[in-house]
Amino acid sequence: MKEIKSYELREKYLKFFESKGHKIIPSASLIPENDPSVLFTTAGMHPLVPYLLGQKHPQGKRLCDVQKCVRTGDIDEVGDATHCTFFEMLGNWSLGDYFRKESINFSFEFLTKVLEIPVEKIAVTVFAGDEDCARDEEAADTWAGLGIPRDRIFYLPKANNWWYAGATGPCGSDTEIFIDTGKPACSEHCDPSCDCGKWVEIWNNVFMEFNRNAEGKFEKLKQKNVDTGMGLERTICMLNGFKSVYETDLFTGAIAKISELAGKKYGEEEDSTRAMRIIADHIRTATFLLGDENGIVPSNVDQGYVLRRLIRRSVRFARQLGIEGGSLVEIAKLYVEQYKEVYPELGINSAKIFEELEKEIEKFSKTLEDGIKQLDKVIQYLKGDTVNGKTAFRLYDTYGFPIEMTMEICKEKGLSVDLEGYKLAQEEHIKKSQQGAEQKFKGGLADSSKMTTYLHTATHLLLACLKKVLHDDNIQQKGSNITPERLRFDFNFPRPLTEEEKQAVEDAVNDAIKRDIPVVCTEMTIEEARAKNAVGVFGSRYGEIVKVYQIGDVDLQICGGPHAEHTGQLGHFKIEKEQSSSAGIRRIRATLSDLV
Ligand code: ALA
Repeated sequence: MKEIKSYELREKYLKFFESKGHKIIPSASLIPENDPSVLFTTAGMHPLVPYLLGQKHPQGKRLCDVQKCVRTGDIDEVGDATHCTFFEMLGNWSLGDYFRKESINFSFEFLTKVLEIPVEKIAVTVFAGDEDCARDEEAADTWAGLGIPRDRIFYLPKANNWWYAGATGPCGSDTEIFIDTGKPACSEHCDPSCDCGKWVEIWNNVFMEFNRNAEGKFEKLKQKNVDTGMGLERTICMLNGFKSVYETDLFTGAIAKISELAGKKYGEEEDSTRAMRIIADHIRTATFLLGDENGIVPSNVDQGYVLRRLIRRSVRFARQLGIEGGSLVEIAKLYVEQYKEVYPELGINSAKIFEELEKEIEKFSKTLEDGIKQLDKVIQYLKGDTVNGKTAFRLYDTYGFPIEMTMEICKEKGLSVDLEGYKLAQEEHIKKSQQGAEQKFKGGLADSSKMTTYLHTATHLLLACLKKVLHDDNIQQKGSNITPERLRFDFNFPRPLTEEEKQAVEDAVNDAIKRDIPVVCTEMTIEEARAKNAVGVFGSRYGEIVKVYQIGDVDLQICGGPHAEHTGQLGHFKIEKEQSSSAGIRRIRATLSDLV
């Protein structure tokens, strides 16, 4: 059988949904802007939240795309056959257009006609019903009508067949589609919710008609939406009958390189195979995060911390395989070549990807050296033959020295480590930082409260006023992050702002607020927006029709919104801090008060 490659599946999927009246939209950034509730884009629906909540999308009511996603919740599972921290999600949406029946019909047709999956291999689950939402007989009947036998339609509760994007936000019952791998059932009760390996989930169709509010109640949305997601890696793996996603064309290049560097064969031995998979996964994710259009760099907080962790784990597993850290850049180079046609930002940002990766690897190598010295001291003064848990955690917390390294070195010297004590110290630490994170992310998913909406309008005014006051038309937004407490705005500028300049920018923004200018949204073609000199990234990233927000003579930007209706609503604007973010990039934190 001919191998099905990733580009074929992307193309077949988009073409199919285009033929069903869907507009193809580009993948959004992995780093969500203006949404304090999540660190990364974790599903195709994420950038579409405002439209699922009822805003009009400029491309219409039927959309489809291939979205870059990062999920790090299961980072410890990476190395098995299916878990990846980065993946691509194929998605199609109805924004208040078709619902259950049509959505299931589309999925069935695509799977059986386009991908030619035999009907006998398909099983589905539907929502069993509870006090919030009725049993989904409509979905079950639709599947049965298409030829899925009743004994392969499973009714499952909320825990399995309800999809939430976050603690609050749009959600609904779903129907999930599974492929039978042909393995014998583990028992007579085996159903697709079982993880014995008989069933692989490939597609999820969510019937998104509810919004879960801050009290945890389900309110009906203004419109009934369909949100779907199909994992590219898993589906290709399944279509080709591979044992793991690492056998797909998305990984074979990287795995071959790692295996060559290690001088070990992939698949021969369990530990080294796992290490190779972890490196292949983590370096891929790091490449995408560094090369993203809103790219980040390693740091000790938020997204930067996750990136740091991914790179450092790769170095650690490389060490285990006898690979020198620096050669991991070679793997990133392979990924850039492999993906740059589909994700041009990787090609554009390649120099940054390699530089930052190298820098972090070097830094970590130094950390390892320092940690080894500290551990040597601990061992020198050790009473007995066990390093206590608190000490091991301190080595990690203060020097970034991983517990696995402590254990490895101790083992070599015939010593042991109190792992229980380490875990206790770690839990204590996590508890403390979670309390901090809850505070920080209390905005809820795609928080479109008055404050975050107005802060978003304030970022438009801020960018325009920075250009004006600093007489520099080359200033651009390099990053934006909004929480209900403040806005954070990054822009390119070579030096700190003087006190006078800061004051002048603040005054200019407040002046625009006082003038109470209407904020007007117009839809136009990308060419019209360009002709009007609208601020925004031009090129194939945007669809043909875009939304342009105009604030009188102050600002004109391509933007998805939402925004205040008129600037007077913003009350009073204050710059709280101006500092360096990275080389050539300044960062402003600002707040609004006295909202109208
Ligand atoms: N948003 C749904 C998911 O991620 C489709 O599974």
